[in-house]
Amino acid sequence: MDLGVELAPRHGRGLRLRNPVMTAAGTFGYGTEPAELLDIQRLGAIVCKGTTIEPRDGNPQPRLVETAAGLLNSVGLQNIGIRTLIEEKAPVWAKWQVPVVVNIAGDNAHQYAELASMLEGVAGVSAIEVNISCPNVSDIAHIARAVAQAGADAVSLINTLRGMAIDKERRRPILGNIVGGLSGPAIKPVALYAVYRVAQAVSIPVIGCGGIVSASDALEFIMAGASAVQVGTASFTDPHVLLEVVEGIERFMEREGVERLTDLIGIARR
Ligand SMILES: Cc1cc2nc3c(=O)[nH]c(=O)nc-3n(C[C@H](O)[C@H](O)[C@H](O)COP(=O)(O)O)c2cc1C
Repeated sequence: MDLGVELAPRHGRGLRLRNPVMTAAGTFGYGTEPAELLDIQRLGAIVCKGTTIEPRDGNPQPRLVETAAGLLNSVGLQNIGIRTLIEEKAPVWAKWQVPVVVNIAGDNAHQYAELASMLEGVAGVSAIEVNISCPNVSDIAHIARAVAQAGADAVSLINTLRGMAIDKERRRPILGNIVGGLSGPAIKPVALYAVYRVAQAVSIPVIGCGGIVSASDALEFIMAGASAVQVGTASFTDPHVLLEVVEGIERFMEREGVERLTDLIGIARR
């Protein structure tokens, strides 16, 4: 059985993953801390915390609230900054087999360009994921097409959806930042539909993310058109979920007699 997927077919070097299961930005740190808890080399790829040019402290506490079917966060891109990432994290990643994707965030196009050029050629950095998610301002398929036309090798979706929670006793919003991003099972149907639509709109690989907690969820995204999936909130609470998703996909393929994972990508659309 072949679980491998190619995420950058248009790129000279490509980005081949041994399986389609990735971590999601901001939920797995820099991969170095969870590396002590599980065999991260068995993952498809690791996406690190969103990184900015200068280090950031993030938003005021509290930053996390549990909801009925997910998590609200307003971490606000707390991170070590790109220079420390290059000096301290990339040399560790360079020794790993599993590819590491660096998620970058800027305040303007100039900062994104600066971040990308600083990462160019850095050993241990296999790809860059550009965080341009903005809350439902326009049609997601339209944005994805623009991203593909601009030269992206792949597109990941979705990020969190905006939400809030109120403390009745204090009669105030719970999050220090008032508004936060909702993730976890609550957003899965929204994410699945976004992947289904975008996979039809673009010809580059789509990476699906949003509420995946099991292999069953991951397979739905793959059948909707995702070439790979990211597991965020579920692995934030228990990193072992990531390997359970890999093993569950393997079991499904074995049971159904599927030789190549690529045979399942977008099958629900055909
Ligand atoms: C605590 C937390 C921090 C996150 N930080 C980032 C980030 O730095 N950059 C980014 O692009 N997405 C970030 N995200 C969004 C996730 O990568 C993912 O897109 C989203 O949580 C949906 O997936 P999930 O439901 O599996 O968590 C963050 C999510 C959470 C829960």
